Amino acid sequence: MEANIQQKKRIFSGIQPTGQLTLGNYIGALRNFKLLEDEYDCLYSIVDMHALTVRQNPAELRKACLRTMAIFLASGLDPQKNIIYFQSHVHEHAELNWYLSCFTYMGELQRMTQFKDKSAKHADNINAGLFTYPVLMAADILLYMSDMVPIGADQKQHLELARNIAQRFNGVYGDVFVVPEGYFPKVGARVMSLQDPTRKMSKSDPEETYIAILDKPDVIRRKMRRAKTDSENCVEFDPENRPGVSNLMSILSALSGMSMEEISETYSGKGYGPFKDAVADSVISALEPIQNEYERISADKAYLESVMQDGADRASRIAHKTMLKVRKKLGIAPLKL
Ligand code: AMP
Ligand code: TRP
Repeated sequence: MEANIQQKKRIFSGIQPTGQLTLGNYIGALRNFKLLEDEYDCLYSIVDMHALTVRQNPAELRKACLRTMAIFLASGLDPQKNIIYFQSHVHEHAELNWYLSCFTYMGELQRMTQFKDKSAKHADNINAGLFTYPVLMAADILLYMSDMVPIGADQKQHLELARNIAQRFNGVYGDVFVVPEGYFPKVGARVMSLQDPTRKMSKSDPEETYIAILDKPDVIRRKMRRAKTDSENCVEFDPENRPGVSNLMSILSALSGMSMEEISETYSGKGYGPFKDAVADSVISALEPIQNEYERISADKAYLESVMQDGADRASRIAHKTMLKVRKKLGIAPLKL
């Protein structure tokens, strides 16, 4: 056996299939998925089980699942290079979730800011799944021995917990899990709401606060023009005092590659109109090719199904191997002695 074959490092990331994917999902996560596909061995999952922490309409969820997969593919992800699959199709996620929950403390979960935010938003449905959501996320990542996880800044705390769980488990049983690193975009790791730029852009908020990946150019222009800024007409990067303008600058910088200084020089002193139009143009030219591909791919149900099946098979093989090891370490009796 050749001992020195350098294995590619592994990447894992997931996106919930709820509502419409947003520009935040695109800049914070999806766009990086494509950039990583050649250098790494990547799994990209539609995390449908995570979506159930909030009550979903079954018909809507089913549609959103397929739509999310079509968007993954339309963004250019090659389903042969990457494993693209649904979380629920690989049962080992649920199994590992349980084992890891026995290595996670209540206090750790209570500190999660997403849990606090979501329980405030859905006060009538603070279910146990919402609470243990980060454990399932840790299971997603650790199941594949992932080295790196491309995510937006809002998931940093969850990733930190996944690392702690991995280290705790390894501390007891030896080196079982890889301790994963986060991979964050340099600009745009936290795209903010267009209407309240102190909060992150989220697909569960009202329509006018976010740009959906599938929004048509006229809708994008309209939402951009109405985006909250301030009355100072100064295009200057200052997230503290000018969160609205700074958010739009980050979007433009992330999509066009322009630095903040270049953006300031080009658009300061001209009123916000031309600046907002430039941001809209950059968004439209990033999203239009994806939208065109999306139309083509989403009409081909047989293709989507074949990607789904192939992804589930390939992911299952890796998951199966990890679980043999984990069960053995834990002392779970194998079926064949
Ligand atoms: P979710 O839609 O919550 O499943 O998020 C999927 C991915 O998109 C995660 O990596 C998030 O960190 C990222 N993401 C979601 N919203 C934003 C945002 N407003 N800015 C940057 N990244 C985001
Ligand atoms: N919790 C992530 C989010 O809401 C989605 C997610 C679930 C995820 N499992 C993951 C992201 C594993 C990265 C890796 O944004």
